[in-house]
Amino acid sequence: MGRVQDKVVLVTGAGSGAGKADALTLAAQGAKLIVTDINGDSAKATAALIGADKALALTHDIAQEAQWEAAFAAGIERFGFVNGLVNNAGILIQASIEFMAFEDWQKMLSVNVTGYYLGCKHAILNMKEKGGAIVNMGSVLSHHGSPNYFAYAAAKSAVVSLTRSVTAHCKFGGYDIRANAIMPDGILTPMVLAQMGLPPDSDVNMIKESPMGHRFCDPQEIANLVLFLISDESRFVRGADIAIDNGNFRITEF
Ligand SMILES: NC(=O)c1ccc[n+]([C@@H]2O[C@H](COP(=O)([O-])OP(=O)(O)OC[C@H]3O[C@@H](n4cnc5c(N)ncnc54)[C@H](O)[C@@H]3O)[C@@H](O)[C@H]2O)c1
Repeated sequence: MGRVQDKVVLVTGAGSGAGKADALTLAAQGAKLIVTDINGDSAKATAALIGADKALALTHDIAQEAQWEAAFAAGIERFGFVNGLVNNAGILIQASIEFMAFEDWQKMLSVNVTGYYLGCKHAILNMKEKGGAIVNMGSVLSHHGSPNYFAYAAAKSAVVSLTRSVTAHCKFGGYDIRANAIMPDGILTPMVLAQMGLPPDSDVNMIKESPMGHRFCDPQEIANLVLFLISDESRFVRGADIAIDNGNFRITEF
């Protein structure tokens, strides 16, 4: 038996980076997967790695409510129920507050906040009878100010707050739905490679350095935590925001 053998999990942004690692890891531990991405071809490619009997691929823009309704309906039609959600999809537009265009600010909030609100809302509507687990992707910037990633930091702060309120709603409403946020530092994914001006398939060997030193997080290390939070092993963990940053953002030498 796998660690999430009885789970059906919807992972957003699962065509790339951390979401892809999450989907593959959950599948390897027995879950059935609804693999979604705004880039439908990338979702299909991840689902193909898992196998048609265990994964359903969907084109899904998380900022559109009708597409959330369709995604849960399709997952339930295929697998009978959905009891896990990994709100992972996200975008990053870098600019200081003086120079970010209003349209870019709205786009950041539309995907990174509204998309997560919609995911939590429809997860609750579809899981409240039988329970489930939600994992929301925050960031080390959830609890920090940043000159050039201010919109991303604001959005990821909202993700942590949303996670706590979803937890409160479910706990006081008598729903056995756990929501937790995770807060990574830099993960070596196409999102970060783009910030470095590198193409998504770049062979950057920045993961294999000393485990105590500065290095990027391997997407597999994110997936290991997501696996724990979706599994029943974490049944006493609710409303948490868990840093996964090699200590980088929370320790000082003096
Ligand atoms: N890479 C990092 O250093 C890092 C650090 C902290 C948090 N995060 C968060 O981790 C999550 C995954 O990021 P990643 O690094 O794997 O990035 P990535 O760019 O490799 O993958 C993001 C995926 O989201 C999809 N996507 C974008 N907009 C979408 C939308 N509107 N609807 C559905 N899918 C959409 C993309 O097509 C892509 O497949 C994001 O929420 C990101 O903010 C990343």
